[in-house]
Amino acid sequence: AEQEAFYRDEIGKELKRQNAVLVAHYYCDPVLQALAEETGGCVSDSLEMARFGNQHSAQTVLVAGVKFMGETAKILNPEKRVLMPTLEATCSLDLGCPVDEFAAFCDQHPQRTVVVYANTSAAVKARADWVVTSSCAVEIVEHLMDNGESIIWAPDQHLGRYIQNKTGADMLLWDGACIVHEEFKARQLEEMKALYPDAAVLVHPESPTAVIELADAVGSTSQLIAAAQRMPNKTFIVATDRGIFYKMQQLCPDKEFVAAPTAGNGAACRSCANCPWMAMNTLQRTLQCLREGSNEVFVDSALIPRAIKPLKRMLDFTQ
Ligand code: 13P
Ligand code: SF4
Repeated sequence: AEQEAFYRDEIGKELKRQNAVLVAHYYCDPVLQALAEETGGCVSDSLEMARFGNQHSAQTVLVAGVKFMGETAKILNPEKRVLMPTLEATCSLDLGCPVDEFAAFCDQHPQRTVVVYANTSAAVKARADWVVTSSCAVEIVEHLMDNGESIIWAPDQHLGRYIQNKTGADMLLWDGACIVHEEFKARQLEEMKALYPDAAVLVHPESPTAVIELADAVGSTSQLIAAAQRMPNKTFIVATDRGIFYKMQQLCPDKEFVAAPTAGNGAACRSCANCPWMAMNTLQRTLQCLREGSNEVFVDSALIPRAIKPLKRMLDFTQ
């Protein structure tokens, strides 16, 4: 605890001294989320992280999250310095969608509008017509449908299928998956629902279809937090990364949140679903990167003008 206080203090001082702002995702370690809040930064979902970094006046944006979030901040703010506690924090969706294969796939279907999830590399974004996050994916696909467009969707197959089922859109799906959400199991979730008959089930749409079908609310991290506040239930079973419990509990101190079961964990377990890449963001690394100016995010300058277009489209559509 003493060490933690030391790091929080030092990071706070460095942020001020360097005119830097800390932006953290809801899946980060609670201590980083709290620090972002205390120091005037923000904790949010991936859409709001992009918007916040874009609108804030700070010259340096410190992004606690995974690589695509740092890259998005840099693409939207090429003139700012973007730092991350680690540059090794990737995402299985990004890894599962290499740009060469993806571009070849798009080239085979030139008549289709290319919609990619934010969890992708800058190069994949540069090949896309639209970038979306789970906060706005359904609305954007509906909008494209209204224009009579057919779609290529990448990389998350579960989110893609969810949108397809919800909207009836004509979508060709890439077969990527999130290694964290893919572990949620429908059969065990049903057993847990029987143990908590009054609980509402909150599910992130990167989860398998059978799990989504058991949900009372489906949505992005921010939408699940809003559902926890809005719904009258006292207990919630939550199928997403455990980092989200920090904000849910803070906003709903009188409600109980239990983790949905993953493979091998029939019982409620707060240590199961946890993204290994998000967990690489530690206090120690945060202080180190600020002090040393290390782990600066750079995006190929040839990609920026192309990648910024679909990102701006998303921000404009959702503002
Ligand atoms: P959202 O915060 O946009 O729901 O994203 C979830 C996610 O997996 C980010 O890695
Ligand atoms: Fe990627 Fe899943 Fe981790 Fe989010 S939780 S960063 S989608 S691996």
